[in-house]
Amino acid sequence: MSSQVHISTHPLVQHKMTLLRDQRTEPKKFRELMRELAVLLACEALADLETEEVTVVTPLGQASGLQLKEQVGLIPILRAGLGMVEGILSMMPSAEVWHIGLFRDEETLKPVEYYSRLPVSPTVDVCLVLDPMLATGGSAVVAVDILKRWGAARIKFVGVIASTEGVRRMTATHPDVPLYLAAIDDRLNESGFIVPGLGDAGDRQFGTG
Ligand code: PRP
Repeated sequence: MSSQVHISTHPLVQHKMTLLRDQRTEPKKFRELMRELAVLLACEALADLETEEVTVVTPLGQASGLQLKEQVGLIPILRAGLGMVEGILSMMPSAEVWHIGLFRDEETLKPVEYYSRLPVSPTVDVCLVLDPMLATGGSAVVAVDILKRWGAARIKFVGVIASTEGVRRMTATHPDVPLYLAAIDDRLNESGFIVPGLGDAGDRQFGTG
């Protein structure tokens, strides 16, 4: 496996991942878990953010500290990626959110782009592509293609669950993009779903299954 693939071993991530997979988990709880997992995985993905030294005055004197130097962009892939935005944004309120709309054609399994309104040139230093599922990898590959055409310099993918095939495709096509995940499952079924996976992350979040 490529050194660009990071599977979180954090017990909280693994605990929440198990609850997320459970078919008895209702949409309300599913959304909560998705929000929490996104925060935990984003922390790992952003561990190399650049900082700069600053001085603040405490009630008892001066203290030196660090503040974030880089602007972060969150790029959720609609629709399932939406559920990963809110938690990260409340932890990092200065992040920008740029949406990309892709759906997977049910017959060909190829991603179809239906929404993208990025500004003319990049306004962020680091892009976090958010999508809970990396199945064939087609959607993630296209989302990163769009960001690279835009001129994004540093791109990271934060997912929740991936298939071995999806990971292979992403790392082969975009070897410069690290992947942050909670789990990788071995296979895809004939409909392109990750097995055993967690079902359809969009449908389970929005109660549309
Ligand atoms: C799902 C999922 C990913 C994509 C993964 O979206 O959220 O975006 O499929 O599959 P891939 O790796 O094979 O491209 P879907 O097309 O079901 O759209 P939705 O999120 O709007 O339901």
